[in-house]
This record gives sequence, structure tokens and C-alpha cells, in this order.
Amino acid sequence: MNTLEKLEELRKKLEFRPKIDEASFSKIRIKDFTIPEVDYDSIDLSTEFLGKKLKIPLVILGWTGGSEYVKQINEILARAAEEMGIGIGCGSQYAAIENPGIESSFTVIKDLAPNALKIANVSATHLKKENFGAEELNKCIDIIDADAIALYFDTLQEVLKPEGEKNFKGLLEKIKESIPNVKKPIIVKGYGDGITRMDAIALHDIGIKYIDISGYAGPNKYVIEEYNLYKDSYDFSRNIAKVFQKWGTSTVRSILNVSGIYDNSQMKIIASGGIRTGINIAKCICLGANIAGVASPFLKTAEKDVENGKGPLQSIRLIKTFLEELKIAMFVSGSEKISDLTVDKIESF
Ligand SMILES: Cc1cc2nc3c(=O)[nH]c(=O)nc-3n(C[C@H](O)[C@H](O)[C@H](O)COP(=O)(O)O)c2cc1C
Repeated sequence: MNTLEKLEELRKKLEFRPKIDEASFSKIRIKDFTIPEVDYDSIDLSTEFLGKKLKIPLVILGWTGGSEYVKQINEILARAAEEMGIGIGCGSQYAAIENPGIESSFTVIKDLAPNALKIANVSATHLKKENFGAEELNKCIDIIDADAIALYFDTLQEVLKPEGEKNFKGLLEKIKESIPNVKKPIIVKGYGDGITRMDAIALHDIGIKYIDISGYAGPNKYVIEEYNLYKDSYDFSRNIAKVFQKWGTSTVRSILNVSGIYDNSQMKIIASGGIRTGINIAKCICLGANIAGVASPFLKTAEKDVENGKGPLQSIRLIKTFLEELKIAMFVSGSEKISDLTVDKIESF
């Protein structure tokens, strides 16, 4: 069986399983070698992504907008990313495009993480606007000196918000038109919904080479809270966001939807959505992801770091924890380098 066939077999196996944990990490395990032919101290966790060298295949994903407090959060995370040699993304920069006065809450990222992999961010839906296109995307890139820009699809949230964008017709075409005019690669990103096989094929066909999964497991509770905020604008008998609580494609399945798309696929994958341990990172890479992205856990550490005023101590501690767990998972699976984490190291049950 070749790699593509192995990925497809796993995908099918996972298809009809009930969602035990939403990200599906518990449905697969890494094969454990009792006698690994590996020296723990020479395990190399480094990798390359978007032309940048990463000491660990990890990026802190964006969740911050623009404000004075967010500037402090971004400062903490940028310092942590730079020191630990991982990537950093910011949350939607649309506010800074509308109001250049708040740019500084984002520019701290380029000032404090000059060498780190950096990912700009804005909702794909803005491309529907008359005055929003490649020029604005390039502006977002410049603000943080980014290596790529993530266009996120918060589809479920948009449709649940009274003022959300509900017409997605033509968006793919708009993205396709932008690609040659945007100075850095475009990453298409989920927002808790994950990526289906049909999404993956459609994105591949318009020339997208980078996907950030953001599979189901992530921010659903925020959708529900947000819905509550607007509930007075509706005349419905219950919180409809709650009815859609279990919507979305799991992180594991989403990765397989993209990684097994074609033989020798050129698609590069950021695995995200519910990644909470270094073991999760190892599993994602075995399934075909290039690096992993984590958001919510850094929300907590960055808030603590801002509160304590002693620098990014808690955030760095969390990165070191991911690192150690990943390294141990690599050791017991007989993996000396990231490229040794392949689908052959995985089994499902
Ligand atoms: C409070 C909050 C705000 C977020 N804002 C953004 C955003 O502006 N842009 C974006 O692409 N993703 C945003 N996300 C999604 C995250 O980047 C990530 O895809 C998602 O939380 C899943 O990862 P996690 O399970 O590690 O949190 C947000 C998530 C949270 C929790």
C-alpha cells in the first residue's frame, strides 16, 4: 500500500465513528517502540515552513484584534515565539486597515519577533467588499512583516450573527484573483469548522498551497456565547448556535482530507483545532501536517504573563511543555527527526 492509500484507509476508518472527542485524537495512536534505535539527545525537532526555520513545528495562532491590551498580549507572544524559535500569527487585522491608529498593537509582532515565522490574518469575507483586495492584504502583510497571510472562513459564526456575511458566492474566485497580486502566500484557514475533502479539492484547484485546518474542537463555545449577545435581535425559541455545537469536521479527519488529496500533494498543512499536547502534534505530523497551530492555551498563558508583568514566562513554559512531549513521542516511536513521523507510525482503533 502506498502512502496515499494508507491515508485514504485511515480516513475511511474514521468516517463513521461517533465523535468521542471532537478533535478525534483519541481515535488514533502512535505506535510505541520498546526498543527504539534512537539517542534522545540527538532528536532534531526543527523543520522549515514558508522559508523560515522553526526549532519546533509549532505556531501560535491568531486570536487577537487591535487594542492597548491586545498590544501587551502580542508583545508577550512575540517575545515567546522569538526566544523559542516558533511561529506567531495575529488575529484579524481588519480593524487596523480601517483605523491605522491601532496598527501598533500588531507592529509589536514584527519588532519583537524579527526572525520568527509570522502570519498575517484577515477574514476571507472582506474580499466581498468593494474597497478590499490585494492591496489591503499586502498592507496586512507589511504591518507585521509576515511570511504569509491567512484568510479565515468563520462560516458558522458569520451565518449565526445577525450582521454576519451570509453570501459566500464568488469568494473562491476573489481569492484566486488575489493570489498573483499578493506578495506572500495565502493560507486558507478554517475557524473551528475544519476542512472537507471537497473544500480541499476546490482550494487546490484555485492554486492554494497552504491550508490551516482549524478543525472542530476549537472555539465553539465562543460561537454560543456570541449568539447569546445577539439573542434580542432574534425571535427564535432557543439558542440556535447550541444546536450546531457539534458541527464541523474533526481536526484529524480534516488533515486526512487535505493530506491524502493527491499523490505527491504540494499542499502544506498547519494542523490546528484542539491541539493540547506534544503527542497531538506528533499525530498530526504523522497524518501529513507540516506544523501544528495552537491558539486557546496561549490565551490563558499570555493573560497570566501580562498580569504578572515578568515577561513571557508562562507562555515559554507552555512551549517547552509541547516541545518535551513531542520529543518523548518521537523517542518512543523511533523517530530521530520530524520527517520520520510518517503515516506508518500511526494506527487507529
Ligand atoms: C477568542 C478567539 C478569537 C479568535 N480570533 C481569530 C481571528 O481573529 N482570526 C483567526 O483566523 N482565527 C481566530 N480564532 C481561531 C484560532 O486561531 C484557532 O483556529 C482556533 O481557536 C482553534 O485552535 P485552538 O483549539 O488551539 O484554540 C480565534 C479563536 C479564539 C478562541
